[in-house]
Amino acid sequence: MDPNSPNKKYRSTPEFAQYQRENFWLDNEGKVPVLNTEPTKLEERAREKLTEGGWYYASSNAGQSETHLANRQAFYRHKVVPRMLVDTNKRDTKCEIWGHKVDAPIGFAPIGINKIYHKDGELPVAKVAGDLNLPYCLSTAGSQPIEDVGKANGNGPRFFQLYMPHDDELTVSLLKRAHDSGFTACILTVDTWQLAWRHNDVNTSDYAFYHGTGADLGLSDPVFQRRLKAAGIDPKTQPNEAGALWIDNVWHGRAHSWEKMPWLIKTWKEISGGKPFAIKGIQSVPDAKRCVDIGCDGIVVSNHAGRQVDGAIASLDALENITNVVGDKIYIMYDSGVRGATDIFKALALGAKFVFVGRLWVWGLSIMGETGVRHVMKSLLADFDIMMNVAGCQSVDQIDRSWLESQTKAYPLLQERSKI
Ligand code: GLV
Repeated sequence: MDPNSPNKKYRSTPEFAQYQRENFWLDNEGKVPVLNTEPTKLEERAREKLTEGGWYYASSNAGQSETHLANRQAFYRHKVVPRMLVDTNKRDTKCEIWGHKVDAPIGFAPIGINKIYHKDGELPVAKVAGDLNLPYCLSTAGSQPIEDVGKANGNGPRFFQLYMPHDDELTVSLLKRAHDSGFTACILTVDTWQLAWRHNDVNTSDYAFYHGTGADLGLSDPVFQRRLKAAGIDPKTQPNEAGALWIDNVWHGRAHSWEKMPWLIKTWKEISGGKPFAIKGIQSVPDAKRCVDIGCDGIVVSNHAGRQVDGAIASLDALENITNVVGDKIYIMYDSGVRGATDIFKALALGAKFVFVGRLWVWGLSIMGETGVRHVMKSLLADFDIMMNVAGCQSVDQIDRSWLESQTKAYPLLQERSKI
C-alpha cells in the first residue's frame, strides 16, 4: 500500500484503504490496532463489556431470531464476481444523498438509548459520523437531547428518525427541534409501534426507560415537559414514571395508518422548508408503491435488523423485490444485517443507493466509546475502499446487478453461533 499512490490525485474522498497500512505498521512503533473488527469477535468483546441488560438489548431480536438469520442468509446467496485489470487507481467511494456529498454510501442507522452502551450515549457516535462525513441518524428513542447531538455532529449531514407520538403537538415540537438543530431529513419508522416480543429483554424486565434511563429527548422537550406537569410527574424525583410517560408516547403500541401520512409529510415540509421525507421499515412491494404514490422522497428497506417481526423475509430479498418494481421511482436505502463491506456492495448491486449500518458501531461504542466507533467505521470504510480496488470497481455508481452471481432464494436451516 504505497502511501504515495497516485490515487490521491484523482479522488474526492480520503484514501480509506491507507488505514490498513497504518494498522500494519503499528507493530513497528510498539503499538497494536485498537480492536479486532471481525464481527463475531467484536460482538464477543461487547458482550464482555456490557451489563447483562445492555448485552441483551444490543443483541436482542424478535422471537427466535429467525429474521436475523434470514437477513444473513440472503447475503450468502449473492456472490460478487470480481473484475481484473481495471484502473482502480482512479477509484472513489463518494456518493450523494439528498444534496449532501458524502464520503461513502454508508450511514449510521438510527439506534436508540445509546447510554446503555456508553455513558455519553449518542454524542461520541454523532461526532465520529461528522468527522468521517457520513450521515448520522438520530433516533427518537435516543438518550441525548436533539440539540446536543446536533452540536456533537458539527457540520456532518444528519437526519432525524421519527417515532411518531399520537400527540401532534409533541410531534411538531420534535420536528421543529430537529430542523433547528440542523437535521436535514425526516425518516419515519413504521415497523415499531412497540418492541417485538424479545424473550431475554422481557424476562429481565429490560426496558431502560422504565428504569430511569434514556428519556432525554422527551425530558428536554417543552411540549413533553408540559405533559409531565399535567400528569403530576416530577422527572427529578420520579425518573421511572417520567421515562415511562415518554416512551409510552413514542412506542405506544398504537398503529398509525396511511391516512396520517399526508399530514406528516406536509408538516415536515412546512417546518423544514421542503427537506426530504422518507419511510423506514418497508418490506413489501405494495407498501413501496404506496410510498411513491403519497410523495415520499425515499424509503429505507429494513426489517429493523430482525428485531420486530420474527420469521419474516430477509430485508435483502425485500430490497430485490422492491427495486425490481420501483427502483427508478424513489430513492431506496437499505438497512438490516450488514456486517462488512461486501454486504454493502451487494445491497448497492441490488439497487439500493445508500446503506445504513447499526450493530457494528454499537459494538465499537460498547467496547471503547468514541475510539471504538471511530475504529470500527474507519475499518469498514477501508474494507469498502479495498474491496473496490481488488474487485475492479472505480466508483459507487458502477455497482449494479452485473456484479453478482445469485442463487435462487432459499432459507436453509443453518444455525448461526448461539447468541444467548
Ligand atoms: C428499537 O428501535 C429497538 O429495536 O429496540
